[in-house]
Amino acid sequence: MDGNEILLVNETIGIIGAGVLGRTLAGTFVECGFPGERLMVSYGGKPSTFESIKEAKLVENIADNNEICQRSTIIFIAVKPQALKELKCLPFTGSSLVVSCMAGISSVLLEEILGIDVFRIMPSGPDTIRKGKGIAAVYPQNYTLTEILSVLGLKAYELQDEEMMHTFTVGVCLPAAIMVADKKGLDMDYAIEAIEKEYADFEEIYIWAKNVIPDFDSDKEEKKYIEHMCTKGGITEAIVNSLNSGDTFLDALKKGIARSREISTSARLTL
Ligand SMILES: NC(=O)c1ccc[n+]([C@@H]2O[C@H](COP(=O)([O-])OP(=O)(O)OC[C@H]3O[C@@H](n4cnc5c(N)ncnc54)[C@H](OP(=O)(O)O)[C@@H]3O)[C@@H](O)[C@H]2O)c1
Repeated sequence: MDGNEILLVNETIGIIGAGVLGRTLAGTFVECGFPGERLMVSYGGKPSTFESIKEAKLVENIADNNEICQRSTIIFIAVKPQALKELKCLPFTGSSLVVSCMAGISSVLLEEILGIDVFRIMPSGPDTIRKGKGIAAVYPQNYTLTEILSVLGLKAYELQDEEMMHTFTVGVCLPAAIMVADKKGLDMDYAIEAIEKEYADFEEIYIWAKNVIPDFDSDKEEKKYIEHMCTKGGITEAIVNSLNSGDTFLDALKKGIARSREISTSARLTL
């Protein structure tokens, strides 16, 4: 038994929402040696998602949300923000560690909707997690959660102020932003220094971002990677569009932070 298993020896893990992120977390737990019989995942019922769960060899781990709430000691919520209201009446026990991965949903709103204290994480993209190079912001600070993330190979950044989640989110969008800015020959260092004044870990995240940019064989491949990172209406898209319109790197990052706040406000209005 290695250190990872000792840490999680008494735990049962449930992942509500076995989509892109949820499957990556589940698959990484399995790869770390976490026993499948103590890992549960749920999904919203789409046949295409079932096929992806099957491909990820997680069919035997499928459970319903009620069972996940009743049996898990650690629960990750990895649904899209708009599905949060479907989790409203679930029987969370209050003794499990519940962790939301949802971008833009504050801990106050989570408590209002789910009626329990919920920790938040903002992980970097599934590609970085799969390569063992992931990072994640954590709010509020929690030792056990930070340790669990380290089992997954994720370096945790504990935030003192939940508002910094927006800045961290821009940090995990940096790989694509750096690639675009690099091509345009933009000065990035001064922008990082400016943001670092408000969020001290930003420079470290910038270095991380430079290190996770994959090697590409062609410009076409590079362009495809950037496009793949730009979810419509998302934060990376806001930054990349800003850079393509001629903004400085600092202005583009500020637009990314503003976009994160906007997404958060509109998510609150739909719930
Ligand atoms: N992907 C990323 O890079 C990333 C990074 C950081 C944070 N996040 C956050 O992670 C969350 C998930 O993102 P994603 O990209 O993984 O989205 P996704 O691929 O759409 O996954 C969401 C999953 O939730 C399932 N779901 C919907 N309603 C459900 C319910 N009532 N009970 C259980 N499962 C339900 C969906 O199942 P069906 O398909 O069957 O509807 C789907 O499998 C988002 O809130 C996002 O902000 C994502």
